[in-house]
Amino acid sequence: MLRGNKELWAAFVVMLLITGLYGLVIFLTREIPPAGELFGHGIGIVGFIFMLMTETLYSLRKRSRSVKWGRMSAWLQLHIFTGIVGPYMVLLHTSWKFNGIAGVTTLLTMIIVVSGFIGRYIFTRIPRTLDGLEIEGTLSQEALKQARRLLALWHTVHIPIGMALFISAFVHIVAALYYATFLK
Ligand code: HEM
Ligand code: HEM
Repeated sequence: MLRGNKELWAAFVVMLLITGLYGLVIFLTREIPPAGELFGHGIGIVGFIFMLMTETLYSLRKRSRSVKWGRMSAWLQLHIFTGIVGPYMVLLHTSWKFNGIAGVTTLLTMIIVVSGFIGRYIFTRIPRTLDGLEIEGTLSQEALKQARRLLALWHTVHIPIGMALFISAFVHIVAALYYATFLK
């Protein structure tokens, strides 16, 4: 069961700290950090690593049959934390320009975060144990069936968006490194 909203608070606090750092860099350099220079580049790389963790870790834990490290609910909390903080860092990386494939990647990133919040809302409607197993709760059977159906439908939308996002991110990264970093 995903109880409370600790992970949302943690993400919020970390985003505030990152915003402070971003503001400090603007104050010191008197410019919006360019995407291809030290700060802008660094924050893009770290944010992208967070996004890769979001895409892989929870799914691996969910599907691992032999090793069961940690509770499913904790992995989902980490998924949500890195799924918010990573995209936020990547947003600061863009230097507020959204041309071409990089712009498309940013749009897909924003869509998956919004979709994640919708999924989180549906997910919390279904009563579960801390290890993610569904339990017959106080909800009426009909409402429970509906929430399960909705979550399954949501998965069929959320997962392909994630895949499209990583394909376009990959193209952007290879192109940006080639044209903006190595050819400089
Ligand atoms: C999902 C993750 C990412 C998104 C959404 C994203 C998005 C963007 C956007 C919108 C820009 C500005 C493009 C413009 O000038 O109009 C940009 C620039 C850039 N990005 Fe990313 N980025 C991501 C990850 C990365 C990563 C991981 C790297 C490097 C390993 C990277 C390297 C660059 C570079 C070098 C530029 C500057 C290009 C230039 O100066 O023309 N990006 N990115
Ligand atoms: C970079 C951003 C994100 C990516 C790439 C991403 C990717 C994914 C993927 C691939 C799954 C399928 C897991 C599986 O069943 O194997 C998933 C599930 C899920 N995600 Fe995300 N996600 C992101 C952000 C978020 C955010 C911000 C939230 C919440 C606010 C969220 C909430 C959820 C929930 C509730 C599930 C369903 C868990 C389940 O049915 O077991 N995600 N996500």
